[in-house]
Amino acid sequence: VNIVEAVLDRKLLGAAFRDLESWSAWLAFLRAVFALPMSAGDLAAFTRHTGRSSAPAVQAREAWLVVGRRGGKSRVSALVAVFLAAFRDYGSVLAPGERGVVMCLAQDRRQAAVILRYVRGMLEASKLLAGMVTRETKDGVDLSNGVSIEVHTANFRHVRGYTVVAAICDEIAFWWDEGSANPDVEILNGIRPSMATVPGSLLLCISSPYARRGELYRNYREHFGKDGDRVLVWQADTRSMNPLVSENIIADAYERDPSSAAAEYGAQFRSDIESFVSLESLEALVVPDRRSLPPVPGVSYRAFCDPSGGSGDSFTLAVAHLEGDRAVLDLALERRPPFSPEAVVEEFAAVLSQYRIASVTGDRYGGEFPRELFSKRGIYYEPSEKAKSDLYRELLPLLNAAKVELLDDRRLLTQLAGLERRTARGGKDSIDHAPSARDDVANSVAGALVRAAGAGVMPNAIPTEVSPLLRSRWDMRPDGGGSREPGREIFRKSW
Ligand SMILES: Nc1ncnc2c1ncn2[C@@H]1O[C@H](COP(=O)(O)OP(=O)(O)OP(=O)(O)O)[C@@H](O)[C@H]1O
Ligand SMILES: [Mg+2]
Repeated sequence: VNIVEAVLDRKLLGAAFRDLESWSAWLAFLRAVFALPMSAGDLAAFTRHTGRSSAPAVQAREAWLVVGRRGGKSRVSALVAVFLAAFRDYGSVLAPGERGVVMCLAQDRRQAAVILRYVRGMLEASKLLAGMVTRETKDGVDLSNGVSIEVHTANFRHVRGYTVVAAICDEIAFWWDEGSANPDVEILNGIRPSMATVPGSLLLCISSPYARRGELYRNYREHFGKDGDRVLVWQADTRSMNPLVSENIIADAYERDPSSAAAEYGAQFRSDIESFVSLESLEALVVPDRRSLPPVPGVSYRAFCDPSGGSGDSFTLAVAHLEGDRAVLDLALERRPPFSPEAVVEEFAAVLSQYRIASVTGDRYGGEFPRELFSKRGIYYEPSEKAKSDLYRELLPLLNAAKVELLDDRRLLTQLAGLERRTARGGKDSIDHAPSARDDVANSVAGALVRAAGAGVMPNAIPTEVSPLLRSRWDMRPDGGGSREPGREIFRKSW
């Protein structure tokens, strides 16, 4: 039974589909991937979505789909997973006791759960298929033919060591891993060798498009429109694949934000998003093995923090100083949720006083609580005048001119390299993390470095809001008002 026959058979995969009429573009796609005979209609869809003119004669080794939101990507991922697990005989490939795995990879647990539900739904809908299930686990199902379907989050540390009969990657354009700047490349590098021993294995990557970078874009550039290529690329807007999605919803989306809608529904790669800074250029600024620098007498330090309430985002703090014309990063701390904001402020305040810092600038969307908590501990907390985007923009010339020394901190580099610049229509570019990525550490580090670089310019107004504790120290200043910056002179005496 081939995959299309299985889908058309109500006792097999077809049991999970109410009406197949709206799935015709997907059937054309499946015929193309598995080199099955095509009708004139299939061939027309194939030509439109692959830029090719002749139907494939052999099964694709890899298929890359660039398809709009709600187009049926996850459902078809599950369908192909079940087909390759249940309908093929891997008896000659698997040693006794060895399990073959159809590995479904998704950005996060939620997406992985969506696919697993589709997989279970397809197996349960058909009596014949349900009978093959020998065990259900948290992450998948074992079938009686020695093959398991497993759903994982996209983490390159977890993909090695299996015999992979097929790998299915959902939303690969949005993969993000805090330990890796190129998780898509690394995961695929980990998986491809696991499939090498399996004849007829398939790598299927399905995603809506995003920026013009990453493996989805690279494969699109290299393999779209090439007849006879065993890497098949299929690009289609939402309604071409799923005509049931309402035209109005899509029209509304285009009206709200045309660049975003052209990607989300039109399946076009975005041209308004670029990488902010490359990993290579950042690596050149790292002092190898330098994790942090201790406070040095006589040096004046600057600090920046990105507060968080204890759930969701991390609470971060960075310390930097100016050395000649270079901004040197001394410390980058991150406390990940869950935590008590009070305890983290306590800890960070102690760190700040080690560096003789009495005033910390914080992300301006941090809310009111950090000011209160810091001031209780004698630290003046000042919301940043500059938005995050401005800090990154000011950091860039320092990075480009190599006027920065960074710590050897993988997470920091990954976050900085993961930043993207978005050209706005008729406005300033904005710089922020990619969807599903983070930048809590990068934010604080950019703030501290930019503050340190600008340290020659002292603010000369005494802040109006100073905590009573700080006020008392302020009044004890030995210099009688020479430098106006809180923190610098106040502590001269005690340190
Ligand atoms: N061609 C189609 N005909 C009928 N229903 C479809 C079709 N394609 C998708 N659907 C339905 O649309 C819903 C979304 O499908 P699915 O989750 O596979 O889409 P997706 O492309 O992964 O969406 P997202 O971009 O949100 O991840 C499901 O209920 C699915 O059954
Ligand atoms: Mg999906």
